[in-house]
Amino acid sequence: MKRTAVCPGSFDPVTKGHFDIIVRAAKLFDEVIVLVSSNKDKQPSFTAEERVGLVRLAVQDIGNVKVDTWDGLLADYIVKSGACAIVKGLRAISDFEYEFQMALINKKMVEQAETVFLTTSAENLYLSSSLVKQIAYFGGDISDFVPPSVLKDVQARLCRK
Ligand code: PNS
Repeated sequence: MKRTAVCPGSFDPVTKGHFDIIVRAAKLFDEVIVLVSSNKDKQPSFTAEERVGLVRLAVQDIGNVKVDTWDGLLADYIVKSGACAIVKGLRAISDFEYEFQMALINKKMVEQAETVFLTTSAENLYLSSSLVKQIAYFGGDISDFVPPSVLKDVQARLCRK
C-alpha cells in the first residue's frame, strides 16, 4: 500500500526550511504532496498560483513529490487524497503549542490524520517566510534562505521598486 504524506503550509514564499522538511519527508514516505493552503489569520503576499509555481520550481527534481493547492480544511484534503500523515516542521518551543493544537483538532476531525513532526535543521531554526519577505523588500540578500531555483522570482517580486 502506497503511503502518502501531506506537507501543508502557506509557503508565502517557500524557504530553505520548508524545502529541507519536504526532502526529508520524501525519504520517509512513498509519496509527498506539498499542499499550498490558506491560513485565515495571514494575508499572503503571493497569490495561491504564485506560491504553487514557486514550490513546483523548488521540488522539480524530487521524484516522489507533487504539489497541490486547497482552499478548505486540511482534514478534508486528507480524506480526499487518502494520505496517512500530515508532516510539519517544528522550529522551536514557540511553534509547539499551535502545532500541537492543530494536530489534535485535525485528528479529532479525521481519525486517519496522524501528524508527524520533523525537527527543523539547526541552520534553519531562525528562518521564516516573513523574515525572508522583509529582507527581500529592503533589497537584502536572501540567497541563504530560499531554494536557488526560486531566488530570482522571489527577489523580483518582493524588492521595493
Ligand atoms: O505555513 P502556515 O501558515 O503555518 O500554514 C498553516 C496551514 C495553512 C497549514 C493551516 O492554517 C491550515 O491547515 N489551513 C487550512 C484550514 C485548516 O484546516 N485549519 C486547521 C483547522 S481549524
